[in-house]
Amino acid sequence: MALAKNANHAATAPAFFSVWDLHAYYGESYIVQGVSFNVHEGEILALLGRNGAGKTSTLRALARLDDPMLTHGEIWLDHQNLHKMKAHEASRAGLALVPEDRRIIQGLTVEENLQLAQIAEPIGWSLERLYELFPRLGERRKQEGVTLSGGEQQMLAIARALARDIKVLLLDEPYEGLAPVIVDEIEKTLNIIKAQGITTVIVEQNAIRALKLADRAVILDTGTVVFDGLADEVLNNEKLRAEYLAI
Ligand SMILES: Nc1ncnc2c1ncn2[C@@H]1O[C@H](COP(=O)(O)OP(=O)(O)OP(=O)(O)O)[C@@H](O)[C@H]1O
Ligand SMILES: [Mg+2]
Repeated sequence: MALAKNANHAATAPAFFSVWDLHAYYGESYIVQGVSFNVHEGEILALLGRNGAGKTSTLRALARLDDPMLTHGEIWLDHQNLHKMKAHEASRAGLALVPEDRRIIQGLTVEENLQLAQIAEPIGWSLERLYELFPRLGERRKQEGVTLSGGEQQMLAIARALARDIKVLLLDEPYEGLAPVIVDEIEKTLNIIKAQGITTVIVEQNAIRALKLADRAVILDTGTVVFDGLADEVLNNEKLRAEYLAI
């Protein structure tokens, strides 16, 4: 009897990161139209879709930014209800968004950018550990962050997220504008981050690269989920790729 009860509970317990029926608006524009998905702890999920499908808007809604405004839905991270939180609270709860434009702070060195992330609890990886993950950042620690190359700035943006104690990393187009060798380097670090147990949601136009990295994939089209399954299923499904990803 006790066993059956436990099995039941496991079946209904929310996933580690659970997104249920999100609806969000920019003013009057209805953009995120009922998005749901689950991410298991330590998994990499690729969130894909054509231009304008609603990927960035979904990430912003998850990070609890003011725009787009979340009007309905639930976001659960490790039993915490993010849908009731503001952005700074969601950040403290362990959610980190690395936006497409990276937001490196002008006038600060690489190290100062990282230290700034650590002025408030909860503090994550130490500088030493971050420089071990990204040796290029260690070599350039005294250089102004905005003078780094695009790839190095992306590394700094990811390192800054890890400088806080996070459970989920949301990446918006981390490979954009980067040479394939740099993408290889960043991909390698994302696998190391995964091995540390951090859960990642990656949005990428470079869908093939993201699918090869990811365990599972969710495809959005006009703000709704049109596919949720294994990343390999998308790689092997030409029709799906052509219809929703144009690849
Ligand atoms: N600030 C905004 N105000 C009004 N509409 C917006 C705003 N930002 C995005 N949108 C609209 O929301 C829709 C989804 O945009 P979003 O940026 O989420 O798409 P995306 O999937 O990230 O696309 P891309 O691949 O081009 O980055 C688009 O139609 C876009 O025009
Ligand atoms: Mg986008």
